[in-house]
Amino acid sequence: MAETVLVTGATGMVGRDVAKQLSRKGPAVRAGVRDQMKARKQFGDEIDLVAFDFQDVASFGRALDGVEKVFLLPPLMPNQVELTNAFVNAAKRVGVRHVVKLSAIGADAAPPYTFGKWHAANEQHIRQSGLGFTFLRPNSFMQNFITYFPPGDGAIYLPWGNGTASFVDTRDVASVAADVLTNDGHEGKTYTLTGPTALGIADVARILAGAAGRDINYVDVPEAAARNGMLQAGIPKWQVDGIMELHAINKENRWSDVTSDVEKVTGKPATDFAQFARDHVEKFRLG
Ligand SMILES: NC(=O)c1ccc[n+]([C@@H]2O[C@H](COP(=O)([O-])OP(=O)(O)OC[C@H]3O[C@@H](n4cnc5c(N)ncnc54)[C@H](OP(=O)(O)O)[C@@H]3O)[C@@H](O)[C@H]2O)c1
Repeated sequence: MAETVLVTGATGMVGRDVAKQLSRKGPAVRAGVRDQMKARKQFGDEIDLVAFDFQDVASFGRALDGVEKVFLLPPLMPNQVELTNAFVNAAKRVGVRHVVKLSAIGADAAPPYTFGKWHAANEQHIRQSGLGFTFLRPNSFMQNFITYFPPGDGAIYLPWGNGTASFVDTRDVASVAADVLTNDGHEGKTYTLTGPTALGIADVARILAGAAGRDINYVDVPEAAARNGMLQAGIPKWQVDGIMELHAINKENRWSDVTSDVEKVTGKPATDFAQFARDHVEKFRLG
């Protein structure tokens, strides 16, 4: 019988591609979701669904029943460390063999930012649990320019100065996860996932403008304006604080190194930003 893989975060940017790619590779995929209607719309009948909520410990048992491997994606939540660690304990208890955890770049010994510290605490807990593990530490997602910083009115507003980052496509992150979950040799490994080039926001704006055939410009906003804008948009303060730490790191160019880990695992070069822009061009056109 095919082994069963539980995919968490399966209605999100990374998780939905992990579930789809995995289901083509052979294992029985079970998507752990909060919203079954949303998931059904996304997957059709292709993938089994189970009710799962990190905030509801009672949902862990059924989701993990008979599961050999887990794609563990901690969503952004203020109690990430505690809830994700509780889930890891439950996975250990039921005999899960391998956890592939989506983490974040820089989540090593002393991460310079809060969200990284949370991921590092989860990684540490998984190591100590004795579970088989692989950690995926992606850089900022290219898809953030669709979800978080869309150039709706022809501008991308970010407090990055001339900072650059080696943005990675979430589809590559998902391909790495699917390969790690279906092939041997990845246990105990940590992969830092980046795109093929470091880009500043002015470069990003130029590439998106070229693909969409319209003007898109970078507006380098002061930190205080970025912070106030997010607070006024109703984003909770703990999240705004964490995001401002990320912006400061990027302004300092600290995550512009390029790795070959995507290609090392998948055998294919990482997607470049121009390809990402072409593949999602409808998101960057007007109207
Ligand atoms: N954005 C970046 O640039 C970046 C870079 C590196 C690492 N990361 C890491 O990537 C992760 C986010 O991945 P993503 O962008 O794919 O996320 P996403 O698109 O925001 O999706 C989050 C997923 O988690 C689910 N979820 C939310 N709260 C849940 C809960 N209480 N219980 C169960 N499921 C829940 C969501 O389900 P619903 O559909 O029900 O909401 C959704 O499926 C975070 O760990 C973040 O630190 C992000």
